[in-house]
Amino acid sequence: MKILAIETSCDETALALLSCTGGLRAPKFKVLKSLISSQISVHRPFGGVVPNLAKREHLIHLPLLFEEMKKTIKKTKIDVVAVTVGPGLEPALWTGIGFAKEIHKKYFPKAKLIGVNHMEGHLFSFLLSQESAKQTYSVKNLSKLFPAIGVVVSGGHTMLIKMESLTKWKKLGETRDDAIGEAFDKVARVLKLPYPGGPEIEALAKKGNSKAIAFPRPMIGSPDYEFSFSGIKTSVLYYMRDNPDANTADVAASFQQAAVDVMVKKTEKAVRQFSAQSILLSGGVAANTALRTSLASKADELHARFFAPSHAFNTDNAAMIGVAGYISHLRKKNRRLTADANISL
Ligand code: KG4
Ligand code: ZN
Repeated sequence: MKILAIETSCDETALALLSCTGGLRAPKFKVLKSLISSQISVHRPFGGVVPNLAKREHLIHLPLLFEEMKKTIKKTKIDVVAVTVGPGLEPALWTGIGFAKEIHKKYFPKAKLIGVNHMEGHLFSFLLSQESAKQTYSVKNLSKLFPAIGVVVSGGHTMLIKMESLTKWKKLGETRDDAIGEAFDKVARVLKLPYPGGPEIEALAKKGNSKAIAFPRPMIGSPDYEFSFSGIKTSVLYYMRDNPDANTADVAASFQQAAVDVMVKKTEKAVRQFSAQSILLSGGVAANTALRTSLASKADELHARFFAPSHAFNTDNAAMIGVAGYISHLRKKNRRLTADANISL
């Protein structure tokens, strides 16, 4: 079946057209087109995402992307229109939902219109990790991946999830304060680097010594699967206040190492406790090479398989919304088409 997916939960306007086959046992996705219009340059002067500017930009870019997408759609019969309904910025979410309703009515009235949880999009994006042919993705022996530990790390969330299958999962724990991506963004601000901070910190960290400064690893040994990242950020702030001439590359590398250590340790604990067969990393921070390589080598050590989406599908995109839309459709999960800024997994 063909799915047209729409994502507008934060600062990326995205549309994707996917051909989905294989059902829940062996899902296979051909990404026929994935379009993303980033608003980074609009929000950069403000050091973070401004909700009303995000809304304005989505309203401008949705029709433009759709015009571009029409060149690929041509006469293709669209079976499902999938749109993100949350979590995210409410004004931004509404623009996507409104647009989905509009094009559904005008162009694809026979298609099913479904709401998608953005976090399910990230969680299922591991299905976009192995390219079997050009732009075609499937995971071999999918059933052998479970139980799996999903590690979802983004600008708004930090979660560990135990997945029994594509239809059954449970949240083990999440952050009590800042998300890991938020910590990267805030530390970047302390180091006077532009927004979004994640890629900037990663680039600077490559030139530094990750053992130079012993930043704290909050909750690394706690008996649960909860996280806390605001303490590391505050430590960086105090360190820079007390050492204004510090080598910022060392600060970036040491901060990144502290954050990675916490993620790896807690994931290891979950893999051991639940005898997980795989680790599924996703979300914007999954683009971070230090985190990817550390988790991949930990997976190796634990004899678990490791998956992370292909480069284009780590940060927000609509292809992952199409994937989660396909799974939701197969599960006959009908979400209301209203924005829910705080919807959980
Ligand atoms: O998933 P995403 O695009 O949006 C949300 O759903 O939040 O994640 C964005 C977050 C931002 O905080 C950004 O700084 C972070 O992902 N990020 C990174 C990297 N690339 C993006 N963090 C660390 N290293 C990176 N290379
Ligand atoms: Zn996201």
